Amino acid sequence: MTGYIASHMVALLHEQGHKVSGVDNFSNSTIESLERLETLCETDLVFEEVDVCNEERLKFALTIATKVNGPIDAVMHFAGLKAVGESSKIPLHYYQTNIAGTLNLLGCMRDFGIKQFVFSSSATVYGVPETTPLHEGCRTQSTNPYGRSKLVIEELLEDIAAADPEMRITRLRYFNPVGAHPSGLIGELPNGIPNNLMPYVFKVATGELPQVNVFGNDYETKDGTGVRDYIHVCDLVSGHLSAVKHLAKNKGLFTFNLGTGKGYSVLEMIQRTEAITGIKIPYAISERRPGDVGEVYADASLAKHVLNWEAEYNLDDMIYHQWQWARKADQ
Ligand code: UFG
Repeated sequence: MTGYIASHMVALLHEQGHKVSGVDNFSNSTIESLERLETLCETDLVFEEVDVCNEERLKFALTIATKVNGPIDAVMHFAGLKAVGESSKIPLHYYQTNIAGTLNLLGCMRDFGIKQFVFSSSATVYGVPETTPLHEGCRTQSTNPYGRSKLVIEELLEDIAAADPEMRITRLRYFNPVGAHPSGLIGELPNGIPNNLMPYVFKVATGELPQVNVFGNDYETKDGTGVRDYIHVCDLVSGHLSAVKHLAKNKGLFTFNLGTGKGYSVLEMIQRTEAITGIKIPYAISERRPGDVGEVYADASLAKHVLNWEAEYNLDDMIYHQWQWARKADQ
């Protein structure tokens, strides 16, 4: 509930008048993350410190949530590990947290009679892109334990949906979430040196790191550097809200890309960040990062057509909001 994407989800649900309850084990957030979220929502939230792998504690949290907020309509599952490189070093931990944690959650949902489930999947399930833009019908493959964990969950959700005609499940394939809440009160808090491009770029902008290492400039892309589909975290969570509204009216299993459909290169991201912050971002071209691909961006038309959702924030908004947050987090 207090991680990067979940916290923005809670803020939106709260703003729209929904009753929300959540859990977190603070593995990638802190108690201050919860406090900031409560400041933003101007209320105490129904929250329990729980590891999603702990069945007894999860049932306790669901019992409390039901007592306080009434029967639970839907579960949104953001509790997963997400660092691609780390996943190859500690695959068992990734499988235990991501796969066993999801199974545990689904088991608890069954016991509480909850039928609606929104799962945070990833564009990583497309592996090496078959084509660009990537549409939901493209073949899937896994290239690392993180991606495998997402793909395994996607597949087991097919079995669960097939076995129970009352289930309503949506798998959302995220492209590259960036940005922060426009209030500047919540955002991403990466542990240690960030793996992802934009948190790294902002650590350079705030002077905490000396330069951005650009992983390769010999890809077949507009300027040779990696192209990705960056999506504002607030757009991403509004996609979840659209998905859960759609599930309220539709049984079965659904899959949507959440992206903007636009691709920007690493150098374009650095240049726009320089323009918006007014700060020079030193960078150096280094080797390609193992496992990286040149160009990944979404065909976002299915979500537009079925969910009536599309991203609204542009690249400058993403960078400006993340900069507001990075400056604050740096103080
Ligand atoms: N990059 C750099 N330098 C850095 C970090 C990244 O040049 O220090 C480049 C990468 O090579 C890539 C682009 O910036 O071209 C974006 O890299 P990120 O690490 O920010 O994001 P990825 O696209 O590699 O990965 C993200 C998520 C994964 C998810 C994947 C799905 O981090 O969890 O998208 O496509 F699985």
